[in-house]
Amino acid sequence: MSSSIDDGEIARAHASLGLTTEVADSAVYDRTVDRFRSRGIALPTFGELADPSTIPAARLAPLAGLDRNEPDSRNLFRVHWFGGLDGSGPHDVPDYIELPSEMTGVEARIVLAFGNRFPMIKAHKVLAAYACLVPRLVTGRFDPTAHRAVWPSTGNYARGGIAISRIMDCRGVAVLPEGMSKARFDWLEQWTLDPANDIIRTPGTESNVKEIYDTCNELEKDPEIEIINQFSEFSNHLGHYSVTGPALSRVFEHATADSGDARLAAYVSASGSGGTLGAGDYLKDNYGARIVAVEALECPTLLENGFGDHNIQGIGDKHVPLIHNVMNTDDVVAVSDRSTDALDALFNTPAGKAHLVDRVGLDPALVDALQHMGYSSSCNALAAIKIAKERGLGRDDVIVSVATDGSELYDAERTEYLASHHPNGYDSVAAAADFGRELEAGDTAKHLELTEQERRRVFNLGYFTWVEQQGTDFGDFTARADQRFWDGMRHFVAEWDEQIVEFNARTGTRDDD
Ligand SMILES: Cc1ncc(COP(=O)(O)O)c(C=O)c1O
Repeated sequence: MSSSIDDGEIARAHASLGLTTEVADSAVYDRTVDRFRSRGIALPTFGELADPSTIPAARLAPLAGLDRNEPDSRNLFRVHWFGGLDGSGPHDVPDYIELPSEMTGVEARIVLAFGNRFPMIKAHKVLAAYACLVPRLVTGRFDPTAHRAVWPSTGNYARGGIAISRIMDCRGVAVLPEGMSKARFDWLEQWTLDPANDIIRTPGTESNVKEIYDTCNELEKDPEIEIINQFSEFSNHLGHYSVTGPALSRVFEHATADSGDARLAAYVSASGSGGTLGAGDYLKDNYGARIVAVEALECPTLLENGFGDHNIQGIGDKHVPLIHNVMNTDDVVAVSDRSTDALDALFNTPAGKAHLVDRVGLDPALVDALQHMGYSSSCNALAAIKIAKERGLGRDDVIVSVATDGSELYDAERTEYLASHHPNGYDSVAAAADFGRELEAGDTAKHLELTEQERRRVFNLGYFTWVEQQGTDFGDFTARADQRFWDGMRHFVAEWDEQIVEFNARTGTRDDD
């Protein structure tokens, strides 16, 4: 999409879309400093989260005796990809899994970094929540002593936001569809300060984001409410660009240390807010990787302007997020929730695991690790397989992706699924059928390579949500078609980091430096 936008207009669009380093209200800033000083809260920089080996040893030492799932501000220094399931770390390389060819049926190497190592919510969305909040804190835009932070989401981001609100001793409000997983609601009941008022259930399921926006627009009339909308917060994109991108680069380098000709062919990410796709922009800038956006076949919005309900929780929200860099996206793949439901059963039942070990010949340790792949993770794996087939990728090609959360968040759904789809038990025949259908015979249908025209179609589709429905300025909306809009926002991360350092100096809570 050609654009005649100049640098001044790009800077104006950044400011109007909330990308700024200017302190908005020094009284709010001072109150925030006081709150953080009194609670002893120290903030990590984006640079430290990208490469936690740079976190001073004195700051890491107390983590050894602290449960990673405790609502303790020291756990902010675990909001990175390099932690272990047991809370250990930071390690040199994020935990990841490489899916063997016997399982995927393709030669290309498929690696996924495990997100359930993140603290407090066992999903990487706590990083998005931190990335969206911290620029506000260090620019006097959020007052933890007065504001209530509202976290609109289909689940994990709301949990991340509530965790961070609670650490700050501030009221956080989760707005999410009533049909999301029981595990998400159970967690929210435990973590919100006032569950009756701080968990707002909106109608519908996964793809009912419009209903979430309607509720937020109502709530926003209260001046003490601050909506922190992951779908339109560019710091969500930047957090993944600057933290997830380098972490995945470390995974790629580690996985290919002994393979001289390996190339990072593609980055695959199922899109909810589109934040995680931001890591793809980093991997494209640094390795030339293709960026593959994935959605649910039952709600094929990017693929064919479609809509519908599905069970791949966290993705496919029936609109094009404002922070999705559509004009830099190369492929769209749709995966059915029937497939992800089936893989969840295959990976997490005794008969499924036995099939993978005894019949397919997979390493039992690898099969055990498949439990760390929730629905959207196996969705990413299936999309990676499709891309490998469609593009004829070979053994030197590596596809990198993420496992945002693990299957432990979907135990209740699995019980229900097994009862309704396999009332006589999930046995070896069912496992063989699922493996054959979903992995061995996986097809390349529902893949679309984005030509310029297709990119424009997807980009333009966003107009109806953002400009018509949510009132985004037309110039801000169209500025996003120009890659200089995206390249020109990278500098904010280093500047916010300087502000975080300054903020910590004022609170006096980073005596480790
Ligand atoms: C389980 C899961 N997978 C994938 C995503 C999509 O990530 P993003 O919102 O960064 O696009 C989410 C978002 O909440 C999620 O919860």
